[in-house]
Order: sequence, then structure tokens, then C-alpha cells
Amino acid sequence: MKNSYSNIFSFNKKTLKKTINYLNNKNVVGLPTETVYGLGGNAYSKNAIEKIFHLKGRPKSNPLIIHYYGFDDAINDVVSNEYFIKLYKKLCPGPITFILKKKINSKIHPLASAKLKTVAIRFPNHKITRSLLKEIKYPLAMPSANKSKSVSPVNAKDVFEEFKKEIPLIVNGGTAKVGIESTVIDLTATPKILRPGVINKSLIEKILKLKIKKQIRSKVMTSPGMMKKHYSPGIPVLINQKKYDGKSAFIYLGNKFKNKKNFFSLSERPSLNEAASNLYKTFRLIKKKGYKKIQISKIPNIKSGIAINDRIKRASKF
Ligand code: TXA
Ligand code: MG
Repeated sequence: MKNSYSNIFSFNKKTLKKTINYLNNKNVVGLPTETVYGLGGNAYSKNAIEKIFHLKGRPKSNPLIIHYYGFDDAINDVVSNEYFIKLYKKLCPGPITFILKKKINSKIHPLASAKLKTVAIRFPNHKITRSLLKEIKYPLAMPSANKSKSVSPVNAKDVFEEFKKEIPLIVNGGTAKVGIESTVIDLTATPKILRPGVINKSLIEKILKLKIKKQIRSKVMTSPGMMKKHYSPGIPVLINQKKYDGKSAFIYLGNKFKNKKNFFSLSERPSLNEAASNLYKTFRLIKKKGYKKIQISKIPNIKSGIAINDRIKRASKF
């Protein structure tokens, strides 16, 4: 058993050195962040970027998020603006991704941003990955460490489950606290939320002192990764369920069915943030237990519930 996880490493100076070595040599590794685990590689290296797309089985048209230690590093590659500065000051490092215009002389490899003129950047708030970003001389392109369309990983073993020994190293940084992917906000024009997360619209509105319009579904995909089918646990998912069918796994909020077989609470209190942090964990657990279908009761569409509903809706397009 011990050997099967031999590419999972706990964090120490030796692991840090090993990780840097792999990255300098254009390899990709599994890294923890506060949202979900990422598959990280040198964002300036064509070789590393190609490996990421290949390993994930991700279409080249779907750009990656570039991760930095801080503002001063990021402005080598992107054009800053007032919205970005305000949000950065209040929320970073933290679970939010900004779409900004790419600088003409940016070193980010064009493949990483799917040859777009914009780029997604983020400042992850995890001690281990921050200490790594501080040491290296390039930012990390880092999508969630799962095969394309599947559920994002929230701990090192989840990453192992996705890639086994296809990657040389996975750094164990415990369970990701937030548990779902960062909020993605487009700041290239009037701010627009492309992917909801635990940093919600009203908090962003408060910081920017403006109203963010509800996202209008456009025919052009504004965020290429926001494909309808995504985050799929690999079995059918039914949402807004009222009646238990007697055999599926039933996901709900609260403690009404505590200790009842086949029932899985996302949060007993219930708290929507806690529910978000348990969502992918619960999907993986249910899958492992061999259930053939998932039913999910209605989740309130407020605060982090908006992000949960976004993910489960996509998971239900099986
Ligand atoms: O929490 C997170 O954001 C995690 C951790 C590892 O940082 N990363 C993550 O990456 O979720 P990924 O690749 O799974 O999702 C990136 C999202 C996709 O929906 C992608 O289409 C969008 O960001 N995106 C990237 N660049 C973009 C751009 N230039 N314009 C619009 N959307 C972009
Ligand atoms: Mg992803």
C-alpha cells in the first residue's frame, strides 16, 4: 500500500527543492491550493504547457489560470487597472481569478492562454504553494488537477486517483479549505463574473462600489471552460430532488437524515461555505461506494449556494 502513493510527498525543504527541480525541468506536478489541487507547470515554457493539456486531456481552446506570488510579479504579464487593484488589495491572496489584458511583451506562453489577448491570473492562498511561488522565477500555469470534465481534487490522494504515476510528484498540503474552484471575474471591461465561487457577487460589488449585472448567456463562450457538462462524478446527477428513490445516494443540507443509510449531508449546521467545501469530497466518496446515481435536494441560491448550484447543474449534464 505504501508504495502505491510513492509520488505523494509531505512538505519540507527537501520536497521544496525536488519540486523546484521538476518545475525548472519543465515537468508538471500536483500542488495544493486553498480552493482545489492544481496541476502546475512553468507558464513561460511551451513544453510544460503542452504536458498540462496532454495530461488533462483538455482542449487547447480552454485557457489556463496563471498563478503568481504577488502583484509585482503579475504586472510583468498583464495590464493592471483600477478594478484589479481594488480587488487585489482586499481579497488577495485568495480564491479569486482575474481576467486581464495580456501585455504585448508578456512571457506567458501563448498556448497557456489559448492564444487569447487576455489572461486569467490568480494569487493562491496556500502556505506551501506560496513558498514555492516565492522561490521560482516564473509563474505557474495551473488548472485543477483532474482529467478534463471530471471532479476537481481536494486532497493529494484525489490527485493520485486522477493521474496515478503519470506525474512525478504530488505535494501533500492537506485538504483544500474552500473545496471548489476560485471565482473568475472578467475585468477587461465592465466587471463580469464568469464562474461563481465563495467570493460572491455582493462582496465584489461592495469593494468596487458598483452593481454587477447578471451574466447574460451569450452564444459566444466568454469563459471557454464554462462548458455545460463539467465537474462530472461519472454517474448521473439529478438536482432539485424532493423525493428519495430508495436506492441512489441522496445529498442534502442539514441533519434531518443523520445516520441514515444512503444520505449524505454537505453541512449539518447548515453552512453554505461548509457545504461547498464538502461537495467534491462527497461526490468522490459516493462514486467510491459504488452508487449508480446521485440525487441532490434543492440548495438555496444565495451566497456560496450560487457556486454550488453552478457546479451541480453542470455535473447533472451527464
Ligand atoms: O481555484 C482555481 O481556480 C483552480 C486552482 C488550481 O487554482 N484552478 C482552476 O483552473 O479551476 P481550471 O483550468 O480548472 O479553470 C480555469 C477557468 C476555466 O473556466 C477557463 O476557461 C477560465 O478559467 N479562463 C482561463 N483563462 C481565461 C481567459 N483568458 N478568459 C476567460 N476565461 C478564462
Ligand atoms: Mg477545472
